[in-house]
Amino acid sequence: MKEILVAPSILSADFSRLGDEIKRIDEAGADWVHIDVMDGHFVPNLTFGAPVVKKVRGVTKMPFDVHLMIENPDRYIDDFVAAGADIITVHAEACVHLHRVCQYIKSRGCKVGVALNPATPICNIVPMLPELDMVLLMSVNPGFGGQKYISLVTDKIAELRKIYDGDIEVDGGIDGNTVSAVVEAGANILVAGSAVYGAEDMPGIIKILKNGGK
Ligand code: DX5
Ligand code: ZN
Repeated sequence: MKEILVAPSILSADFSRLGDEIKRIDEAGADWVHIDVMDGHFVPNLTFGAPVVKKVRGVTKMPFDVHLMIENPDRYIDDFVAAGADIITVHAEACVHLHRVCQYIKSRGCKVGVALNPATPICNIVPMLPELDMVLLMSVNPGFGGQKYISLVTDKIAELRKIYDGDIEVDGGIDGNTVSAVVEAGANILVAGSAVYGAEDMPGIIKILKNGGK
């Protein structure tokens, strides 16, 4: 079985001291920094762009896992590469030419992921799987932190794991209660925003997630 990695989402961090909030997850044992970029079009919320990511790149050596919840993501790949992204994930639903966008991300030296909303079937990206480093399965409808895990996604994780050996990241509503189902289904990268930043014992919850809920 693959090692389980925890990628806290800075969406739930205190943005007034973002650098310190990233150092805090680093010291608490996180593996990746999950960076939620929203444009107010693809999702009904806005966050930040590449300049903010660039400003905080220096505070940690952890990989930057950039989740683009934006329309026309191809326009912004160069900016996020320059800002220090290690893996860039685009939504299948936002890309007319998904293969082209993924090839472009790889050509810029970044790892590439494709994200699927809860209602989008796995079969939509089966032809792309050999090209990808990671598939991100959304387990909430994207746009906001602190939502409830959508349980139909557990079967999607298992369906994907049967045919895909790469990283499977799950994003939304992951906490000490929901983690065991997603790990048993085959996910190995766990995004958690409110569960990590809202915890009194941050190292404790990260350890629980890394242990698959045990
Ligand atoms: C939702 C984002 C998630 C979100 C996760 O649109 O992609 O990364 O911040 O937050 P929690 O863990 O609170 O559901
Ligand atoms: Zn995300």
